[in-house]
This record gives sequence, structure tokens and C-alpha cells, in this order.
Amino acid sequence: MRIGVTTTGGDAPGMNAAIRAVVRYAIPQGLEVVGIERGYAGLITNQIIPLNLRSVGGILHLGGTFLKSARCPEFKTPEGIKRSVEVLIENKIDGLVVIGGDGSFRGAMDLSKASGISIIGIPATIDNDVAGTDSTIGFDTAVNTALDAIDKIRDTALSHERIFVVEVMGRNRGFLALEVGLAGGAGVILIPEIKFKLDTMCKRLRVYEESGKASTIIVAAEGIGDTAAVVNYIEKNTKYEVRFTKLGHIQRGGSPTARSRLLADLFAAKAVELLLQGAKDKMVGLKGNSVISVDFNYACNAKKPLDKRLYKLAEDLAV
Ligand code: ADP
Ligand code: F6P
Repeated sequence: MRIGVTTTGGDAPGMNAAIRAVVRYAIPQGLEVVGIERGYAGLITNQIIPLNLRSVGGILHLGGTFLKSARCPEFKTPEGIKRSVEVLIENKIDGLVVIGGDGSFRGAMDLSKASGISIIGIPATIDNDVAGTDSTIGFDTAVNTALDAIDKIRDTALSHERIFVVEVMGRNRGFLALEVGLAGGAGVILIPEIKFKLDTMCKRLRVYEESGKASTIIVAAEGIGDTAAVVNYIEKNTKYEVRFTKLGHIQRGGSPTARSRLLADLFAAKAVELLLQGAKDKMVGLKGNSVISVDFNYACNAKKPLDKRLYKLAEDLAV
């Protein structure tokens, strides 16, 4: 069997660890492995490189992905899929590991239908917004990166007695904001899953003011929309001085944490085993302490629940 491995969508710390583990788990079992550079964009344009045990040395601790990643609108067209199937056939690839998020798995389902080959997904995104897995590769690293930034911002918040509104990533979902907010002792957490009124938030901030709380951190998920409007509203409706910090892409980079690397190793081994068993259209995932497989259909179409108890706990502690 000759398998391909590729990274697509937004990069996430631990993708390199996952590529390395796929290669080093597969080759000793008699599989040949090739890397497809730049995700589906590289598939369409035949950017295929051979991988061996040594070519994945020295990358375990690096963020990003040495295979590069890309977004590829062309892949969503019938021509893009047709060309991808031709490239798979030309390169004699009969199994594929796709490391990415739910968008990547939607594409994988189309490709598997058109090509008939086995495709297994490994969830990797800092947003942790893929259904069917408790966690995704890169999420823990991003939580820790954002937390480190917030701890630093807190120094200024305390010294100058200000409110800081800190926007963290999360295009549609608030998993990152919720964990960072709880772990970082945020006074308020704003996420798309929990409706909030600016007026109610300011009442809460005034209670803080009256209780002598001179500063606080508000963690807002990118997915809530207009964070600048939140800042303006607080400035107008409380006595606090307010600053806004958007953490941005620093959350996507950096050396993966132990947890992100372990997840990469566990997911990669399971993905290769599934390919050897001839499984199709599956994503590997974490449920409690077990590594499981779930249907792509579920991973792509179910809405991952957010643990609202964490939100309540953060509120309880922010007094
Ligand atoms: P992620 O995998 O991190 O969610 P994207 O949503 O950007 O990232 O998806 C990565 C790539 O997967 C896209 O550039 C596109 O080529 C492919 N893709 C995304 N959504 C679909 C879809 N609905 N159907 C087919 N392919 C898709
Ligand atoms: O999907 C991960 C993510 O970091 C989102 O939280 C964010 O909205 C998006 O990627 C930004 O992606 P890019 O800068 O690559 O367009």
C-alpha cells in the first residue's frame, strides 16, 4: 500500500508531529509514504514528495507544517476533484491521511467518493471546533500561548487599573476563548454560543468597580463579531479606562505543547491502523482517554457541544 499524507486548512502546532508519526508508524509496517505539499492545492498540481524515516527528523518540536498548508477553492469544483483523482492514480496512492479541520474533511468526503480510496482524517485546528473529538491537535498549544499573553497583559491591567478586552481566535466557536478565559481568570468571557447583552455586561463591570476591583480582563472570541463595539460600549458606560488587544496569529504558531504532540502521536497511529484495516471516511478522535474513530459525516455535520459548566464556573469565580 502506498499512502499519502497532507496538511490542509489553517496550520496548527503539532501538525509536524502528526506527519512524523504517520510516517514512522506506517513505514515499518510495510507501507510506502508520500507527502502531498500544500494540501488540496498541491494535490491538484501534483506536488508529491517521497517521505522516509529520516525526512521527518527534526520537525517534532516545530510549529506550522513542513508540508505547507493552503486553502484551495478549486478543490470544491468538479474539475478540481477530477484532477485530484487523476493525480492520485498517477502516483499510485491508494490511501490518504488528511490532517486538518472540518472543511478539510468535507473535501476528503468528496475525494473519497470520486476516487474510491481510503481516506482517514486527523483533526488539527486551534479552534477545537470539530465534532466527534474532545480535542484537536494544536488546541492545547493555542490555549497556553493565549494564556501566556494574557498573563503579560494582566501586568499592565493591574498597574494601570484598566480593563483589557483580549480577542482570541475562533472563527465560529468559543472553545479557545472559554478555556483561556477560565484559566486566565477573565472577569467576562464573550463567546458566540452564549448570547450576551452589552448592557448586562456593563452592569457586571459596575459591580466590580463598586467592589473595589480596579482592573479586569475580558476574553472575547473572534466569532462574536464586532469586538471594537464592545470596547466603545464599556468606555461609554463605565468609569474604567479600556484597551483592546487582538492576539491574532501568534496563537497559531509556536512549538507544540506535550499534549498537542501526544495527541498527534496517538491520532497518527490510529489513522494508519484504520488505513491498514481498509476503513473509509473516518476521522480519528479523542473521547475521554480513548482514541476512537468517527464517521466523517458526523465530524462535518454535527455541532460540537460546548461545556457550559465551564462558563458558569468562570462566572462564579469572577467576583
Ligand atoms: P479547515 O480544514 O481548517 O476547516 P478550511 O475550511 O479552509 O479549513 O478547508 C480547507 C480546504 O478544504 C479548503 O480550502 C477546500 O479546499 C476544502 N474544503 C473546505 N470546505 C469544503 C467543502 N464544503 N467541500 C469540499 N471541500 C471543502
Ligand atoms: O481555523 C483556525 C483559525 O485560526 C480561525 O480561528 C481564524 O478565524 C482563521 O483560522 C484565520 O485563518 P487565516 O488567517 O489563515 O485566513
